[in-house]
Amino acid sequence: MEKILQIKNISKKYQSKEGEILAIQNVNLTVNKGEFVSIIGPSGCGKSTLLSIIAGLEEKTSGEIYIEGEKVSGISSKIGYMLQRDCLLEWRTILSNIMLRFGN
Ligand SMILES: Nc1ncnc2c1ncn2[C@@H]1O[C@H](COP(=O)(O)OP(=O)(O)OP(=O)(O)O)[C@@H](O)[C@H]1O
Ligand SMILES: [Mg+2]
Repeated sequence: MEKILQIKNISKKYQSKEGEILAIQNVNLTVNKGEFVSIIGPSGCGKSTLLSIIAGLEEKTSGEIYIEGEKVSGISSKIGYMLQRDCLLEWRTILSNIMLRFGN
């Protein structure tokens, strides 16, 4: 199986006025070519945090991310992320929003 995405021991601590918030701890996940993966969990469990780290929009506190076998840090042109609100052109479908990247 060709590994598209590997997440190794990713943790994230946010600093807030109330102190440190451990949003995710030691998350491990591998996505193979052709797989469709859903991340499900209650509000606040860290889904958006994990996706933002994968997309390079948020700094991880520890751990490593590999895309197609290459270690990445920061934003990679190989991966994109449709946020759950605000940033979409709401009159377009998710797919046609994604296709904007390709000039459609
Ligand atoms: N910028 C931030 N600063 C401080 N704490 C944050 C920040 N972003 C998220 N958190 C905290 O990190 C934890 C995980 O939040 P996250 O938004 O990743 O959860 P989620 O699973 O996407 O929730 P939802 O289903 O409501 O979208 C929560 O405790 C949240 O309050
Ligand atoms: Mg979220």
